[in-house]
Amino acid sequence: MSVNDAKTVPADETSRKSLENQGLVYRVIDDGDFAVLAPAEHRGFLGPEPTDEQIESERELLAERRVIGVFDETAPQPLPVGTVMSWGTPLTIPSGEIPMWAISGVTVAATHRRRGIARAMLEGELRAAQNAGFAIAGLTVSETTIYGRYGFEPAVPVQRLTIDVRRAGWAGGNPAAQIRFVDREQLADDLEALHERTRTSRLGDIPAWRRRWKQTMGLTPDAEKPRDIRGVRATDGEGNLVGAMSFTLGDGPDFQNHVLNVRHLVAATDDAYAALWRFALTYDLVGTVKAELRPVDEPLDWLVSDSRGIEHRVHDHGWLRILNVPEALAARPLSGPVGVRLRVTDPLGLADGAWTLLQIGGQGLQVKPLEDSERAEVTIDIGALSAAYLGAVTLEKLAAVGRVQGDPAKIRELSVALRTDSAPHLSIWY
Ligand SMILES: CC(C)(COP(=O)(O)OP(=O)(O)OC[C@H]1O[C@@H](n2cnc3c(N)ncnc32)[C@H](O)[C@@H]1OP(=O)(O)O)[C@@H](O)C(=O)NCCC(=O)NCCS
Repeated sequence: MSVNDAKTVPADETSRKSLENQGLVYRVIDDGDFAVLAPAEHRGFLGPEPTDEQIESERELLAERRVIGVFDETAPQPLPVGTVMSWGTPLTIPSGEIPMWAISGVTVAATHRRRGIARAMLEGELRAAQNAGFAIAGLTVSETTIYGRYGFEPAVPVQRLTIDVRRAGWAGGNPAAQIRFVDREQLADDLEALHERTRTSRLGDIPAWRRRWKQTMGLTPDAEKPRDIRGVRATDGEGNLVGAMSFTLGDGPDFQNHVLNVRHLVAATDDAYAALWRFALTYDLVGTVKAELRPVDEPLDWLVSDSRGIEHRVHDHGWLRILNVPEALAARPLSGPVGVRLRVTDPLGLADGAWTLLQIGGQGLQVKPLEDSERAEVTIDIGALSAAYLGAVTLEKLAAVGRVQGDPAKIRELSVALRTDSAPHLSIWY
C-alpha cells in the first residue's frame, strides 16, 4: 500500500466490536461529518468551540486524513466522544525513507474518560496500520505517560533553547546570505518549500502540509495575535532561497530586553543557518532568544562567544512504534557488521518474534526467523527497539535500565549497528 492510500483503510473490526459492547459506535468519519469532528477535537484539547470559519478552514486537511470517530448515540450532542486521525507519510531514515503510519488528534470526551476508548482507538490504529503493510507508526504527544503502553517510545528528541544574547555574543563571523523581511504569506510559502527540500536530510522528520505553515505564520482563522508574527528569508549570492525564519517579539523585563521567540527556523545551507541565527542573536533591543523543537546536535554553541549563554533543555518529541521488525530493520542501512540472534517482545503481540540478523561486508541485512533449537542472544521490548531505531539512544543505555537483556558483546554489536551519523530531528508537531 502506498502512503497515499492510508485513507482507504477500514476501521479495525476488533476495536469496533469492543466499543459496540459498551454501546458505542466506532467508525471512519467521512467528509459529511467534519462539522462535528473539529468541535470534538477542540473540546478534547481543552480549546474553545471553533467558529464555522475555523471548521471550514480545517476541512481541506481532514479530507486528506483517515478520521475515526467514536459516537455515543445517547448523547444529546452529535459530536463524537472519541477522535483519532491518521495518514501515511514518509519518515526519513538513514539513506532514505520508510512509509510511516502517522497518528494525531487523539481525544476522548471528559464525560467518557478512562473506560478504554483511547485504548480501543490506539490498538485499532496499530492493527489497521499493520494490516495495511506499514512497518512503523509515529506520533507526537501531549503527555509522555500515555503511549508507552502501546509500544511507542521517544525516538526523536529535540531541545528548547533559551539564549541570553548579551552573554552568548556572536563569534560566527559575517555570513554571506542576505536576510530580508517578507510578508507572512510569502514566508509560509518559503517555509513550505524549504522544509520539503531539507526534510530528507533530517532523520525522523516527515513532510508537513500547507495548513501547518499557515498556522506557523498566523494565517488560519484560529491564529492568536497573527500580526505579531514576522518573517525573514535568507538568499544566497545568486538570489536563491536558502533559509527562512518566523518569529515574534515579546515583552521582556524592560524595553532594551525584549524576547525574540523563534517559531520556525530552517536553513538549506550552513551559511544560511549562521546568517539567520546571527540575525536573531544581534537583534537590537532583544535580550533573550527562545527557540523550540531544535535538533539536539545543533551547532549553535560553536557560533557564539560564550556557550554558557545558551541554556539547553532536551525533551522527547517524535515517538515511534515498530510494527514489523524485519522490514523496519532491513529498510535502514546498519552502521556496522551484525550477526545477532534477536528476540523482540511486544505486549500487544503485534511485532514480537525472534530472528537472526546478519549483515556482512557491504551487503544488505538478512533477517531469518530463529529456529526452535536456537536461543536468542539479545532480548529487547518493542518500545526500546523503536526508541533506538534512529540512533537516539544506545542499547547499552537501555540495557542498563533492564529494557535490553543478553550477551553484552552482542548488545554492543547491535547498538553500534544502529548508530546514525547525525541525531534525529523532527522539526514539526503533528
Ligand atoms: C489521553 C486520553 C485520550 C485518554 O483517553 P481515555 O479513553 O480516558 O483512556 P483509556 O480509558 O483508554 O485508558 C487507557 C490507558 O491509558 C491510561 N491513561 C489514559 N490517559 C492517561 C493519561 N493522561 N496519562 C497517563 N495514563 C493515561 C489509562 O490509565 C489506561 O491505562 P491501562 O489500560 O494501562 O490500565 C484522554 O484523556 C484525552 O482526551 N486527553 C486530552 C487530550 C490528549 O491529551 N490527547 C492525547 C494527544 S497526544
